[in-house]
Amino acid sequence: MSCAPSAHIPHPPVRKAVFPIAGLGTRFLPATKASPKEMLPVVDKPLIQYAVEEAYASGIRQMIFVTGRTKRPVEDHFDTAYELETELERTGKHELLALARSIAPDDMSCVYVRQPRALGLGHAVLCAQELIGNEPFAVLLADDFMQGSPPVLAQLLGEYQRSGQSVIAVMQVAREQVSSYGIVAGAADHAGVIQIERMVEKPEPELAPSNTAIVGRYVLTPSVLHELRDIAQQALSNPAHTGEIQLTDGIARLAATQGVRALPFAGTRHDCGSKLGMLQATVDQALQHGELKAAFKQWLIAKAASL
Ligand code: G1P
Repeated sequence: MSCAPSAHIPHPPVRKAVFPIAGLGTRFLPATKASPKEMLPVVDKPLIQYAVEEAYASGIRQMIFVTGRTKRPVEDHFDTAYELETELERTGKHELLALARSIAPDDMSCVYVRQPRALGLGHAVLCAQELIGNEPFAVLLADDFMQGSPPVLAQLLGEYQRSGQSVIAVMQVAREQVSSYGIVAGAADHAGVIQIERMVEKPEPELAPSNTAIVGRYVLTPSVLHELRDIAQQALSNPAHTGEIQLTDGIARLAATQGVRALPFAGTRHDCGSKLGMLQATVDQALQHGELKAAFKQWLIAKAASL
């Protein structure tokens, strides 16, 4: 079958976003011993809120969180904080009240499903399959702190609307870093969008087909669920299989059947799963923060000069 993008066909809208958040966050211990890593703040907002805001700003209204045992604070964050709101109302703190309420707009719905065992990103997405149904959907990894204008997910949705194919965000990484990422290769069109021909999860640098790495934004057609179910079934019926069910493997199968596009997005990305990335995101965000940017920039320049 041809994988050429099919223009002019109306493609079903993407209404749902999946946030896999069951991971333990061991790279951030001790901070994550009793708190979810997704609740770590970049300046004054938890990581997960940036990702949810990106999905909302891209037109998505149904947020599906794939959670684990220690993730209750994420549910509370997107719920009404009754005592807080009552207190802010009583004391006339209207701006703060509006801020607290804006976290979960009335037209946004949040649903939660558990991933009972840490069997990988593909397994996390499968945990949401009944909530996703037979619709295209987005996946956002909150650890990947991504900013763009338009938002990175909106850029992917634009490409999905043009091609009707699944679309994933990619960027170039250093050769020695390829073993931390899903890596793709294929032919780029005039706009730089790659029609994926090869895809491999975390290859050794000498085996990697390119330096083009998948970063945490995906728009996927529902057929990926079928592929993931098949991969999971094979894995679970093989007693020797102890590994994870990779989302990349499901998408690689889609690339061979329906076609998958890799979009080198416009914007920035920090790996907030790492301490260095978290610090970089914090500095970036502080330099854009209405209240802080002037004072922070002054301090940063003086600090840099003293190093
Ligand atoms: C996951 C994906 C990988 C992707 C990465 C982006 O890996 O499996 O393909 O490149 O996210 O951050 P993880 O970082 O969860 O190990």
